[in-house]
Amino acid sequence: MTQAVPSPREIATELEKSVIGQRVALQEMSIALSKKLAGLAVGNILMIGSSGTGKTTLMRAVESYLEARPHLSLRSTVVRMHANILGEAAQKGRPGEVVLQRLLERAREQLGIDASAESLLKQASNGIVFVDEVDKIRSYIGDRPNTSGIRAQEALLTVIENEAVPLTLPPWAGGKTVTVDSSGLLFVCGGAFEGLYDSVFDRVTIGRDRGALKPVTVVEDGQVHERLEFVLREWLRNEDLFDYGMSPQFLSRFDAVVLLADLTIDELVRIFLEIPNSGYDQARAYFESRGLHLALSPDAIRRIALEASKEKRLGARALKEVFRRVVRDYEFDPKANGPEGSVLLDVAEVDAALAT
Ligand SMILES: Nc1ncnc2c1ncn2[C@@H]1O[C@H](COP(=O)(O)OP(=O)(O)OP(=O)(O)O)[C@@H](O)[C@H]1O
Ligand SMILES: [Mg+2]
Repeated sequence: MTQAVPSPREIATELEKSVIGQRVALQEMSIALSKKLAGLAVGNILMIGSSGTGKTTLMRAVESYLEARPHLSLRSTVVRMHANILGEAAQKGRPGEVVLQRLLERAREQLGIDASAESLLKQASNGIVFVDEVDKIRSYIGDRPNTSGIRAQEALLTVIENEAVPLTLPPWAGGKTVTVDSSGLLFVCGGAFEGLYDSVFDRVTIGRDRGALKPVTVVEDGQVHERLEFVLREWLRNEDLFDYGMSPQFLSRFDAVVLLADLTIDELVRIFLEIPNSGYDQARAYFESRGLHLALSPDAIRRIALEASKEKRLGARALKEVFRRVVRDYEFDPKANGPEGSVLLDVAEVDAALAT
């Protein structure tokens, strides 16, 4: 039985259950997945976004989406790996092999151990490869060359859009060396590229393109101010990524470079409330186990999101950390402070907890 390939919008609707905001990245990913599932050619994607803004969450969401739909996942085997693994593998031999071997293993899980090497290879060579933390394979750190990064980028180049990748099959697949056409693979790489924001800001304010970013005049509280409004998306050029340590050959393999936005307070509130197994869910389950009902007022949640948003380097991860500070005392010594065995936290309680 053949089933219709879901449209990008249908895919996005599902992914949105675990990824809040990040509209552009969701769109790009949903379009790519829809095309891939239809057997069409798709350009590779590079995702850049601050830490804790949802890059890994989005990759995982796609994995779960496919896992939950076997009829779709058979159309495209997916693997997710940390970029550093490629550098390590490169030291041991043919670097691109590690990617293909992962895909092959995954294909075997899907098709069963009796599947022929040929069918496994066919399945694997049509897969989706998520390479996470791709910024860790920059070719230099400061002024020093980063050998494993250089090797890892080269390793990826050998498998991205290559029609003839040599691959020694694992023993369970016969152990022969074969040639694999990997041009059907879709690569989605993601990384935080820490420091990129600052270096591009410097370029357009005090560096090479000094003065390019013009101050805007704003009126605030009746006073006129001049302010620099910098949005990375508007200024990022390929050269900035070259300078960061991604080679031009490597970058040229990506059709789309997607910048994830920093999360807004509203989005942090939604992440706090809507993402399953959050710190909030866990705390509620704990109080429930002690016969108490935990409730936070909307203002209290906003206050937590606001506090979390101040920790720019953590993104949504800060929510957990801030929330821990808020509930610690209450979890340590659970007792009702509201009606019918409820623990009520309003802004005053949150403020008090955060002040200690
Ligand atoms: N856009 C988002 N939607 C839903 N949850 C999010 C989002 N961004 C972050 N989170 C939450 O924050 C946590 C960290 O997010 P994630 O691992 O996706 O960050 P990342 O962008 O991969 O960061 P890093 O660059 O540090 O790896 C996740 O566990 C998730 O719960
Ligand atoms: Mg991540």
